[in-house]
Amino acid sequence: MKAYQLNKVGLEEPLQLIELEIPQPKENEVLIKTKFFSINPVDLKTRMGLGVYGRIKTESPLILGWDISGEVVAIGSQVNDLKVGDEVFGMVNFPGHGKVYAEYVSAPEDHLAIKPGNISHEEAAASTLAAMTAYQVFVKNLNIGDSVLIHAGAGGVGHFAIQMAKIFGAHVIATASSKNEDFVKSLGADQVIDYTQTDFTKACHDVDFVLDMMSGDVLVRSIEIVKNGGKIVSLPSGLSNEIKESGKHKNVQIDFQLVESSVADMAQIAAWLTSKKIIPHVSQNFEFNEIELAHRQVYSGKTRGKIVVSA
Ligand SMILES: NC(=O)c1ccc[n+]([C@@H]2O[C@H](COP(=O)([O-])OP(=O)(O)OC[C@H]3O[C@@H](n4cnc5c(N)ncnc54)[C@H](OP(=O)(O)O)[C@@H]3O)[C@@H](O)[C@H]2O)c1
Repeated sequence: MKAYQLNKVGLEEPLQLIELEIPQPKENEVLIKTKFFSINPVDLKTRMGLGVYGRIKTESPLILGWDISGEVVAIGSQVNDLKVGDEVFGMVNFPGHGKVYAEYVSAPEDHLAIKPGNISHEEAAASTLAAMTAYQVFVKNLNIGDSVLIHAGAGGVGHFAIQMAKIFGAHVIATASSKNEDFVKSLGADQVIDYTQTDFTKACHDVDFVLDMMSGDVLVRSIEIVKNGGKIVSLPSGLSNEIKESGKHKNVQIDFQLVESSVADMAQIAAWLTSKKIIPHVSQNFEFNEIELAHRQVYSGKTRGKIVVSA
């Protein structure tokens, strides 16, 4: 089978297209014939020696990617719920070695859900790591009726987060540039702040919760608009003690949270996709041999919704 290997950390050297044996599923795994995978910023970070690189750098061959949709073509001896022919999607082995940039992927049964019949494999591949992240953050931190500021509402995590925050009964404020204002409104945001024109700290105040997708200055300034006793979860990277302490003067808790593969959370996402309570947005669809173009798009930081790659 064809797969993409990371040979050298950095963006200069292209990922190498290699020929590998089709993997054998372990007893708790299924073998998936990949239809589509999606790309996340963590793929790029890991490629550059950041992200989860430290956890998987000794793997060989090192194959990036965690988000998959495809068809089960073989099952391990201890697999209970999935069978050959099932169409499945999920986030495989995150934050470990997902090995998804490949024509076949062996994945634990309990990292997957059955693909809803009303969505395409493109849409399913898009509704994995980004959707799970928003869901896991909100389950842990959001209360019904909270007001929430979602930075980067037009991105992969943000576009799911807006829709899910509405399901959780929140009042949703989101930041986006002018070109994405209508898109973000259509997802259900009650207020959109065009961050290119307006300082968000002047456009909202006393929110219960901030979902920070930007870190740095955006994270620091977000403390100003959280109410006393409120919370911020920052996703881009781990936080220094200095940052964590910086909310203490108003009792604002600031945490980093890392998404993890979960069968129960995939089942919830599948249910919401089936009932159309969440609708994924796939802005671009790349061919397998266009992996470098796909990486460049995500690296731009300007992707609307998700991009996917066919296998
Ligand atoms: N900790 C975890 O488990 C976890 C999980 C998922 C993601 N993450 C991290 O969370 C971050 C976001 O991930 P993602 O997948 O949502 O990224 P993404 O899809 O690449 O985000 C792109 C979006 O960011 C928006 N954007 C860029 N600059 C902005 C700014 N200054 N203010 C507001 N919006 C801005 C863009 O909208 P405009 O074009 O309108 O500017 C674009 O739509 C990344 O750092 C990622 O690694 C962490």
